[in-house]
Amino acid sequence: MNRAVPHESAAKHVTGEAVYIDDMLVNEQLLVGKVVYSPHAHARIVSFDLEEARNTPGVHAVLSYRDIPGHNQMGPVVKDEVCLAEHEVVCVGQAVVLIAAETDEQCREAERKIKVQYEVLEPILTIEQAISAASLLGPPANMKRGEPDSSIRTSPHTIKGELHTGAQEHWYLESQVCLCVPGEHKEMNVFSSTQHPSETQSLIAEVLGVGKNEVVVEVRRMGGAFGGKETQGNHTACWAALLCNATNRPVKIRLFRDDDMIMTGKRHRFLSNYEVGYDDEGRILAANFDLHSDGGCATDLSFAIMQRAMLHVDNAYYIPDCSVSGTVYKTNLPSNTAFRGFGGPQGMAVIEQVIDRIARALHKDPAEVRHTNFYGMKDRNVTHYGQEVENNRLFMMYDQIMKSSEYLQRCKAIAAFNQESEFFKKGIALTPVKFGISFTTSFLNQAGALVLIYKDGTILVNHGGTEMGQGLHTKMQQVAASEFGVSLDRVKVNATNTSKVPNTSATAASAGADLNGMAVKNAVDILKGRIAENLAQYWNERDRLVTTRRDDIVFENNTITDSHYPKRNISFADAIPLLYLRQVQLSASGFYKTPNIGWDKDKGWGKPFHYFAFGMAVTEVNLDILTGHHNIIRTDILHDVGDSLNAGIDIGQVEGGYIQGLGWVTTEEVKWDGEGNLMTHSPDTYKIPGVQDIPKDFRTELLQNAPNPNTIRRSKAVAEPPLMLALSAWLAIKDAVSAVGNHELEPEFSLPATNEVILLSIEDLKRRKAEKTPAATTPEFAK
Ligand code: HPA
Ligand code: MOS
Repeated sequence: MNRAVPHESAAKHVTGEAVYIDDMLVNEQLLVGKVVYSPHAHARIVSFDLEEARNTPGVHAVLSYRDIPGHNQMGPVVKDEVCLAEHEVVCVGQAVVLIAAETDEQCREAERKIKVQYEVLEPILTIEQAISAASLLGPPANMKRGEPDSSIRTSPHTIKGELHTGAQEHWYLESQVCLCVPGEHKEMNVFSSTQHPSETQSLIAEVLGVGKNEVVVEVRRMGGAFGGKETQGNHTACWAALLCNATNRPVKIRLFRDDDMIMTGKRHRFLSNYEVGYDDEGRILAANFDLHSDGGCATDLSFAIMQRAMLHVDNAYYIPDCSVSGTVYKTNLPSNTAFRGFGGPQGMAVIEQVIDRIARALHKDPAEVRHTNFYGMKDRNVTHYGQEVENNRLFMMYDQIMKSSEYLQRCKAIAAFNQESEFFKKGIALTPVKFGISFTTSFLNQAGALVLIYKDGTILVNHGGTEMGQGLHTKMQQVAASEFGVSLDRVKVNATNTSKVPNTSATAASAGADLNGMAVKNAVDILKGRIAENLAQYWNERDRLVTTRRDDIVFENNTITDSHYPKRNISFADAIPLLYLRQVQLSASGFYKTPNIGWDKDKGWGKPFHYFAFGMAVTEVNLDILTGHHNIIRTDILHDVGDSLNAGIDIGQVEGGYIQGLGWVTTEEVKWDGEGNLMTHSPDTYKIPGVQDIPKDFRTELLQNAPNPNTIRRSKAVAEPPLMLALSAWLAIKDAVSAVGNHELEPEFSLPATNEVILLSIEDLKRRKAEKTPAATTPEFAK
C-alpha cells in the first residue's frame, strides 16, 4: 500500500506553492483585522473611549464587547472565557477591542487613539500563589486503587519529593490566522487555521447569533498546530468573524509572532508531589501523587489535560496501590491549553523522576529498575484506573533496544570516560513510553467522511480531520486508494469543510488517522458494495455464462474483477461511467465510533483507551560542566506504530516528536515577570531546538511485525507518544550531572534542565559533596 509515499504536499511545501491562509488571493475589499489586548494581568476596566479611533481614516470598524450581536463567549467546554473583555481583564494579552482597517498602519494608528482606563488589581501568577489563595478552576479529581497510605508505611523504602515541570510554547510556524468572507445575508465563509473546524463554526455562529448552518469553515492546511489550535484557533476566528460581520467585507487577522506568543496559552506548568514505597529490588509497591496545574485565567481544556496527566502517572509501570489527585488552579495568565501529549508528558515526568531516584538510592541501573516495574504480560497488567494493558510490547522492545543501542557496553564506556574527564561528563538513560489512544472524553471518539466518485473515475475524499503538516491527508489518500484498489493519483483529499462533514471532533488526541481512516473506509466499503452489486448485475444480464455474486468481486490494480471468473473484469476508469449511466449513486458518507471504550470519570475507573502505543528511547549526552552546555551524542528510538500506514511519515513524526520533547525538557523556558508580562515572547528569548540540537547520531526504527488489532489497516496512532521519549534526554543529563559527584549524591533537578538549572545543580552538588551533607530537600531514603 505505497508505504513510504511522500507527503501529498511535500513538493508544494518546499517550492512555496502550498497555499496557507495568508497566501490566499482575496479581492481588494479585504480589510486587516487587529486585536487590542490588555496590558495588565488583572485589572478593572473603568472606562473606554473608542470615538477618536473610529474616526481614523481607513478604519471601518472598532468593536468592543457591546458590539457583539450574539453571545460574548468563546469557552470551548466551560463558558468562562469572554470573546472581548467587559468590566475586568484577567491576563496580559486578553482581547479588549477589535479594529478593522484598510492597512495595518491604519490599525495601529487607530490603536494609539483608543483610551482604556484600568484600575490595576493584584494578580495571581504562580501555582504556589494560587495554592495559598485557594484559586481553583474547579473541584479536584481523584483516582485510587488499593490502600496506598498503609502500603507506603509498610514498604521497606520510601521516597518523597516534588517536581516542577515547565510550560511550553507551541511555536507553530504559521501563527494564528483567520480569513472571513461574507456571503449572502447571514452567510459567512471562514478560512481558519484550526484543528477543530466544527467548534470554530459553532463558536462563530454563537458570537454572531446565527444558526450554525450559516457558517462554513474550511481548512486546507495549517502550518503546524501541536494542540495550540485545538481550541485557541477559535479565538482569532471569532474576532475575524465579528469584524467581517460588522463591515460586511472580507477580514483577515493574522497574529504577529510576539502577539501570538503573548496572547495564547501554553502547555500547562505542573507542580507535582509524590510519595512512593518500594522494595530492595526497586519494585514500586505503592504511590501517592498530587498533581497541581496552572490552568491560566479560564478553563479551556485544563480538566481533560489534568485527567490525561493522571492517567499517565504510571507510564509503563505497574503500581499496585496507587492514588492520584489532580487540581487545576486559576491564575492571571492566558488560559493554558492542549499541547502534544495533553498532560501525558507532565504525568510521565513524575514517575520517570521517581524511578530514576529509586535506582540511584539502590545503586542500580535505572534501566533495570524500569524493567523490574514494567506492566506484566499475564499478571501485574491492570492500570491504576482499571484498564488491562493488552498486547504489551514493553519487554519485546526493551530486549531489542538494549541490544541495538549497545546500552550495557556504552554504560561501561561512559563510566570509564567520566573517570578520566574533568570538565566533560557523559550520561545515558533509557526511558519507555506507554500512551493511551482515544479522547478521554469518550463521545469525541467519532468521525465522518464523504467520498465522491466523479464520472471520469477520479475520487474526492472528504473527512473530518485537518492537515497540520502531520500527513493525515496523505494517509487518508492511501487508505482510500488501497481500499478501492486504485493508484494514488486517482484520489484527491479535499480541504476539510464543515459543509461536507458535520459535527466533527478536533484533529487531536493522536487519533486523526485512526478515526477518520475508519470513516473513510466505511464510505469506501459502502461504495464498493454498490459498485459490486451493480457490476454483477450488469455482467449477469450481459452474458449469462456464469453468475457473478457481489461478494466475489475484488478491487485491485485499478481493476474490478470477479475472483472466480477473472475474465470478467473491467478497469475502474471504465466501470464508473458505465455505472453512472445505470443510475448508480457514486457518493457515500462514512462514519466510525471507537468500539468498547468507556469509563467513569468521577470514579476514575474503566477503559478510557482503545489501545496503548509504546515507544522506547536511549539517549546519551555529553555535558560541559563549566557552562551547562550539552549535546546529544546519540539517540536510539524504537517506536510502535503497529503496521505503519506510511513509514516515512511515521518516522518523521517520531523524530519530530522527540525533538519537540527535547525542547520542553532542555532549553524551552517560558518566563513571566512579576506583573504577568511574558518575557520570552520571541525566538531571541525563547529557545526552541535548532539543527545543532539534533542528536549527532540519530537512529529511529519502527517496531516490526506488531500489527494492531481492530484499527485501520492494523496501524497505530503516532503523533503524541514520541514526544515523551525525550524524557530520556532529561535523565541522561541528570546522569551526567550525577557523575560530577561520582554518583555519590543525587542531583536536584527540575524540568526543563536549562544550562542555568544544570549549573546550579552542579554547584549545589559540589557544595554538598564538600560538606558531606545531603541537600535539605533531598528526601530521606528511609533506612
Ligand atoms: N486529547 C485531546 N483532546 C481532548 C481529549 C484528549 O484526550 N479529551 C478532550 N479533548
Ligand atoms: Mo492535541 S495536544 O490532542 O491537539
